[in-house]
Parts: sequence; structure tokens; C-alpha cells
Amino acid sequence: MRKTEILSFNSSNFFTEKAGITGLKRKDLAELSKQLTTARQSLKKALADGSVGYLSMPERRKDLRVSLDMAQQVSRKFKTLIVLGIGGSDLGARMLIRALKPAKGGLDVRFLGANTDPEEIADLLTEVDLKRTAINIVSKSGDTIEPMSAFLFLRDRLIKKVGRQKHAAQVIATTDSRRGTLRTIADREGYRTLPVPDDIGGRWSALTPVGLFPVASAGVTVTGLLSGAKQSRDQFLSTPVSKNEVLKFAGLHYLAYTKQKRNITVLMPYAARLDMFGPWFRQLWAESLGKRQSRVGQVVNVGLTPVAALGATDQHSQIQLYNHGPADKLITFIEVRNPRSDYVIPKSFSDLPGVSYFGGQSFSQLLHVEREATAHALMKNGKPNGTIFIPEISPETIGGLMMFFMLATSVMGELLDINVYDQPGVEGGKQAILALLKKESL
Ligand code: PA5
Repeated sequence: MRKTEILSFNSSNFFTEKAGITGLKRKDLAELSKQLTTARQSLKKALADGSVGYLSMPERRKDLRVSLDMAQQVSRKFKTLIVLGIGGSDLGARMLIRALKPAKGGLDVRFLGANTDPEEIADLLTEVDLKRTAINIVSKSGDTIEPMSAFLFLRDRLIKKVGRQKHAAQVIATTDSRRGTLRTIADREGYRTLPVPDDIGGRWSALTPVGLFPVASAGVTVTGLLSGAKQSRDQFLSTPVSKNEVLKFAGLHYLAYTKQKRNITVLMPYAARLDMFGPWFRQLWAESLGKRQSRVGQVVNVGLTPVAALGATDQHSQIQLYNHGPADKLITFIEVRNPRSDYVIPKSFSDLPGVSYFGGQSFSQLLHVEREATAHALMKNGKPNGTIFIPEISPETIGGLMMFFMLATSVMGELLDINVYDQPGVEGGKQAILALLKKESL
């Protein structure tokens, strides 16, 4: 990895030379290069004509400015920020705050609304002082039942505490700038608002005010996220196909899916602070790629099932399955080369070989070795795997990683000829909830 690079992808264990006959063939990837070139070409065009909104997020300075301004206003007045959202209106901010929140400074940011579990609500109410809390309700459509029900409840509690008039100063609604129920409520109640861009929805929106405002409120330097995302996008657009890491990642997953029926994508970061990165990726990959119809309306029923794992934890939970189970997965690790803190394991009990061999090693060395050993064992078992390396966990590298996976998802959509930006399959469930709550038959 060159010093300025924010990530690099080592794919050698995916191929037959390392993984044996169950690996992927370099020849097949080379044969896919025409399709990969076309896929990149259409994304280049989409950036130029504005038809795929997330591609231009790094340049949207107004969205950044309003998010930073709001974060500054809220941070001056409050101690806690409760974010209410679900899916794409929740996971990005959760992941970013978990990965990047500095030890000091920033608001205490809590999340509710991704579940409608009363026990979770009760726990939160015992932990926060509503008088010193701002509430950020995030919903692009403005009528999603989970966050909106949590909002109605907290709003009621807030009004009881501070009064109808004063409560409005404690609510920030992030929603569509023109339409939807939440927009109507915000206008009627006089809430401050932030826009969800018209052309960027849900799981693609973490780097818009949906994520930027809560993440900046938590004390994270969000400008770094956007510069990292830009660097990753520009690298994708300018690097030759044969060396292009996004195209390689997508191409390998496409080949494994179409030629080997491998339909499970495992993402396994070796970093506790990246434990929410897998769930963020999981939604992106699942909702974007799981589709009944192709772009021309043909029934295709495609999709790859994402699995979020965590190293080293899941070595003692899932790795048995990955090593000896069915040949239905591609596994990608993420390794952080330089953690922000490190400690040396003390040399102790020199007469006990069970513990003496790791004394004197640092925890970061141990984690690197665990990742390398797991990758090696998988390869020996004929299980293709790769590793994305990032130099450290920083706004730049995480912004870069997010862009990497969003681009890879878009490229998969081009290869599979599906629309990765909609989610018509979620609608059925929403309609059924509505019917049951209205006591209608399903
Ligand atoms: O990715 C998506 O589009 C979904 O996960 C949405 O983010 C989720 O359904 C929440 O929608 P909304 O922001 O409209 O409440």
C-alpha cells in the first residue's frame, strides 16, 4: 500500500493458484473485463449526468455546511442527541459514530427507532435527561412506523417535560425537503429541518445530512469522510480495469455467484470499532442486490446473502462453518494496519507453554496474526478469501471504505442488470403491518 492510499485489496487467496480448484480463475476475471469496463462507464456517465446521486456526495458542500451548522447549534445547547431512524436512516450514523467517536468532546448520541421494543425505550428514558436532549427524527418518506412511533412517544414525553411551545426547539427533522408526513409535521410544529437529498435514498445516504449531522454532533470530523469518499471514487474512475480494486471485488463476487453458485458474502473486519461496519454493509448488499426483476422486467430472483462477522470474535463462532462447511461463500477480511492504541502482553508464567508463547507480543500483532492465520487456513481448505487493508481507522479511511462498497454494489447491479437503488420488496411487509394494525385481514 502506498503511503497516501486509503485502502488496498489483496485478492490472491480468491484464485485457483492459492485456493486450489475451488478458487476462481484469473482467465474468467480477464474475460469479464469488457463488462466491467462497461459497468464503470455507466457509473462515470451517471456521475456526469447526475442520475446516481451518491456519486457526487463529496462535492455537495451545501449539505455539509447545513449539517455542520446544525451540529454546532445543537452541541452548544444540549448534552444528548437521540437519533430516531431505521435502515438507511440509522445504520450509517450508528456505524460511523461507533468507529470514529473521539474519546473526548461531542454530544452523547443515542439511537432509538430502529426497533419498537418498549424495553429499549424504558432503558433509554432512565439514562437521559430529556430537558438537555435534542431529538433527531430521520425519515425520508416521513411515515415509517418504527421511528415515527418512537418519535410520537418521545415528543409527548418532551412536551410533558418542557411544554408544547418549548419542545419544538429540541427537535430536528431530517426528511424530504418538500413532501411526506414528517415534512408536514415539521412545518406545522415549527421544527428545524435538514434535507434528505431527492436523489439519494436510504442505504446510500450516510454521507448526506442523514449521517453527517449526528456524526458531526458526536465530535467526528466529517469533512474527512467526504474527502476519503472522493479519493476512493476518483481512484475507481481513473484506475485501469486490470488494477481496479472495486471492479475486482465486484467481478469476483459476480463470477463466484454465477459460475460457482456461491451466494453468501461474508465481511469480517478485525477491529472492534468496526463491528457496525458489517451491519451497514449487510443492508447495502442485501437490499440493493436482492431483486425479483431485472431492469427490463424479466423475473430473475437474484441476490447474494451478506453475513456480518467480526474478527477475532467469530473465529470461535463461525470459522468452523467457513472452513469445513459448504462451498457457498466468499469471505473478505478488513485489517487495520495501525490501531490508535496498543499494548504489550506481559511475559508471565514462563514454565507454562499454554500462555508463555504470546507474552511480549503486542495486541495489534496478535490481531494481525489471527487474521493472517484464519485467511491461510481457509485457503488451505479451498475457501476463497481476500483482505482489504486500511492504514488506520480515520474519517478518511472509513469514508473511502464506504465509497468502495457502494461502488462495488453499483457495479454488481450493472453486471446483474438490476436496479440497486430501489427496494420494492420492503413494501409488502409495510402494507401487512398497516392492515394488521387496522384490524383488516391480510
Ligand atoms: O435503504 C432504504 O431505502 C431503507 O432501508 C430505508 O432507509 C428505511 O426503510 C427507512 O426509510 P425512511 O427513511 O423513509 O423512514
